[in-house]
Amino acid sequence: MIRLDRLGLVALAAGLAVLVAGCERPPVKAEQKGYRGLGMEQVKNPRTEKAVLAAMNIPDALPKANAGGPKAGTVYKNVKVLGDLSEEQFNRVMGAITEWVSPEQGCAYCHNVENMADGSKYTHAVARRMFQMTRQINETWKPHVGATGVTCYTCHAGNPVPKNIWFKDASQINAPFKHAGYRADGQNLAHKQIGMTSLPGDPFQRFLAAKEAKPNEIRVIPTKALPANPAHSKDVKDAEATYALMIHMSQGLGVNCTYCHNTRSFFKWEQSTPQRLTAWHGIRMVQDLNQNYLDPLKPVYPANRLGASGDAPKAFCTTCHQGQAKPLNGKQMLKDYLELNTVSLAKY
Ligand code: HEC
Ligand code: HEC
Ligand code: HEC
Ligand code: HEC
Repeated sequence: MIRLDRLGLVALAAGLAVLVAGCERPPVKAEQKGYRGLGMEQVKNPRTEKAVLAAMNIPDALPKANAGGPKAGTVYKNVKVLGDLSEEQFNRVMGAITEWVSPEQGCAYCHNVENMADGSKYTHAVARRMFQMTRQINETWKPHVGATGVTCYTCHAGNPVPKNIWFKDASQINAPFKHAGYRADGQNLAHKQIGMTSLPGDPFQRFLAAKEAKPNEIRVIPTKALPANPAHSKDVKDAEATYALMIHMSQGLGVNCTYCHNTRSFFKWEQSTPQRLTAWHGIRMVQDLNQNYLDPLKPVYPANRLGASGDAPKAFCTTCHQGQAKPLNGKQMLKDYLELNTVSLAKY
């Protein structure tokens, strides 16, 4: 017979408390995203979502500026990107980026305040490229960012260095549980950007930055019984890298695989959700940002901003999404800042 003494009861109660602590407090809401009965649904909790949104502290838009009057390019001495804005619009943008990127440090984070035209701080040079990158995202990558678009706040959220960035090989160097059995690609180390799995820890260099990335690099499921050229067939290691990226994408967006895939067939596009196509464009967009904007900034940064292998800080899905299916929970900031979208400026 089992006899529970007082100590046993206490232990039992503590055990139950531990079990229940892992559960989420109601109300939870399930939203159907695909065919019924396939688990293609998203479970949300309005209570925790509200708290997350409040924590984002999105600043109110500054009052609109007059688009007329002299252009910034003629008024100021050292303006190379935003010269097409009116002087008023230009100053509004300077005010906004200070709130978005360096609210504590102020204008001096990028400027020598004795001489505003002096562009010698590295942050000034980086910010100038950031203006070009932000316009590139909003203009060229509409198939991904839609009308929602991005502002500096999407990635920076009030921090000079965005919370979610990555460096090459960081999984090998920074992994919390490093041990003797890890592989050169970071395999067998729990890495937080890929859900603490022990898959290859750096699928990012290969899929989201490397210039030699091929168009269908991520795909691993064979569509024919035998590959046309066996040398081109993929192996288990390739599949592991793909899964590592997929886990990053799911985690970065705070969703399950079924947000994009019908799991009865991961490769079939006809059975996937529209979000998978948006994600496909997102992958190409992130490659563009890393290859053409972020990685080339390497010579501009001081050494303490570079990664352990000397590379520049880079972006992935989490840089913008930060755990949400739509960054900033879908809040459309760009419509109040068309200065960051040259195409629509004519209509401003
Ligand atoms: C995150 C970096 C950053 C912050 C913060 C910032 N600026 Fe700038 N500022 C720039 C960059 C980059 C340029 C050049 C823009 C270009 O090339 O189009 C610039 C240019 C200027 C110029 C033109 C100077 C000239 O004569 O050529 C003025 C004026 C200016 N900023 C004012 C401000 C003020 C005022 C603040 C604070 C409210 C501020 N900026 C905050 C990055 C910044
Ligand atoms: C797609 C995401 C993204 C967007 C949008 C973005 N940035 Fe950045 N920004 C980054 C990343 C990644 C870095 C590198 C972080 C680092 O410096 O360590 C960075 C770095 C910077 C830095 C250098 C900070 C430092 O101290 O090293 C400045 C300044 C900056 N951004 C300004 C801006 C401004 C201004 C805008 C809007 C016009 C902007 N950024 C938009 C991702 C973004
Ligand atoms: C946000 C959307 C999204 C999520 C979430 C997502 N995937 Fe994917 N998945 C894609 C896209 C897009 C591709 C195709 C990539 C390409 O072609 O460049 C893909 C490709 C794949 C492939 C390769 C298919 C082929 O043709 O060989 C596998 C396997 C896969 N995903 C598994 C998963 C798993 C497992 C999860 C959950 C851990 C997941 N995915 C989560 C969007 C997503
Ligand atoms: C530069 C910022 C940025 C980056 C980086 C980014 N996204 Fe997005 N993404 C957005 C914005 C903005 C939207 C909202 C678009 C809209 O409202 O139509 C979005 C929307 C999406 C959606 C559609 C969500 C829905 O419910 O309709 C998916 C899926 C997605 N992103 C996947 C990804 C994946 C996967 C990556 C990484 C490979 C990625 N994104 C990287 C900015 C970004």
